[in-house]
Amino acid sequence: MKDRLICGTAFHAPQRGAVEALEEVLIAIDASGSISEIVRKDQVGFDEMKAEARRDGRLMQLADNQFLLPGFVDLHIHAPQWPQLGKALDVPLEVWLQKYTFPLEARYADVDFAREVYGELVDELLANGTTTAVYFATIHMEASLALAEICLEKGQRAFVGKVAMDDQDQCPVGYRDRDAETAVAEMREFIRRVRALSTGADPLVQPIITPRFIPSCTDTLLKALGEVAAETGCLVQTHCSESDWERDFVKARCGKTDTEVLADFGLLRHSTILAHSNFVTDDDLTLIRHADAAVAHCPLSNVYFAGAVFPLRAALDRNIHVGIGSDVSGGHSPSILDGCRHALSAARTREGGVDPSLAAADRGVANSAISVAEAFWLATAGGGEALGSPVGKFVPGYKFDALLIDLDVPASNVRRWPALDSLEDVFQKIVLNATRSNIVRTWVNGELVTSTQA
Ligand code: GUN
Ligand code: FE
Repeated sequence: MKDRLICGTAFHAPQRGAVEALEEVLIAIDASGSISEIVRKDQVGFDEMKAEARRDGRLMQLADNQFLLPGFVDLHIHAPQWPQLGKALDVPLEVWLQKYTFPLEARYADVDFAREVYGELVDELLANGTTTAVYFATIHMEASLALAEICLEKGQRAFVGKVAMDDQDQCPVGYRDRDAETAVAEMREFIRRVRALSTGADPLVQPIITPRFIPSCTDTLLKALGEVAAETGCLVQTHCSESDWERDFVKARCGKTDTEVLADFGLLRHSTILAHSNFVTDDDLTLIRHADAAVAHCPLSNVYFAGAVFPLRAALDRNIHVGIGSDVSGGHSPSILDGCRHALSAARTREGGVDPSLAAADRGVANSAISVAEAFWLATAGGGEALGSPVGKFVPGYKFDALLIDLDVPASNVRRWPALDSLEDVFQKIVLNATRSNIVRTWVNGELVTSTQA
């Protein structure tokens, strides 16, 4: 089978901070869903290649106000919290978990309920441009497997985690693993069953080892899950140093920071995804860097639960892997474009400061801001690098996970002024103002998974 071609203008940020506009290029997609070639219009062979593909019916030509973007990576999202999106954000994290979230998650003992919620969630995320999602599910085997199956059915790239939580003091009777031994045995079974859903070298859906966070897990469980990670090579995700309460709880129980405890138990590994990490120390950042682990920055959720702004610039300057997490439903938006905007606002607010009664020089943390290009990189290539997945940019060998942005849809908030806007300006306008209505097609692994156009 000959490769399919898309011809049009694409934006991507292959390196942090640098946006590249690929103007009227040909992107060739092979049968495995990977990009085989990018041909620029001044390259020899461009016209012949395009004409041949058009003749064979293998060419898709984008219109004037249409642009390709890499699909978004959501590095941290709680699938079962979808019905709670946009509510219940009136209390601190430790109350929110016990009052709202654990009771909601307990309902996923009912697989039919899980299927209903997860089917809708995956559709909504794809329509919002999330082509890779790193999910927390619940403690339930069948419901968590259902999420993996639904991602496969609907064609979303995903890491799916059955949540482990066994601490009898921190987890309610109706929503915890029976004991550490059961939790570990079930984690192994879950890994085996998710891996059995796909064949081939690069499965679309993979399991991820998911201790909820240190306060809800016993040391016995954490240690055993570290061993499972080493044995299976599965990635790991957890919450890390999210709030004052959480950081202090771990310090009081373990005498160490979250990062140090995770490292001790073998859970701080290559591509371990640490959600939040707002209160990490300098030494923690060194540990994270050396382990080649990553941070899922969740700026919207942090407004409600963290009480502080993640030192994003410091983490990036130390070459730590970082991507964006929606943290649904601690974050009340499923959109990773919103995540970019919140990351920009949070970083700028950190730089400017918050208390106008202080002198400008004393108000914020210097050199904290990030650029639009950096925010977009976090949401795409940065997330891909964090996971070690070949997604998030348009280069040969990478997966064709992509979005078609159309500025001419009736509901568009993005207006292009051809006499005033460079291509770079159009890119910034998309990142700052495009909505779901502008995302008219979503592809994952070369497959069209949503379309609002005929
Ligand atoms: N820490 C432990 N569980 C959770 C959760 O569900 N959401 C957030 N934001 N933090 C957590
Ligand atoms: Fe979370």
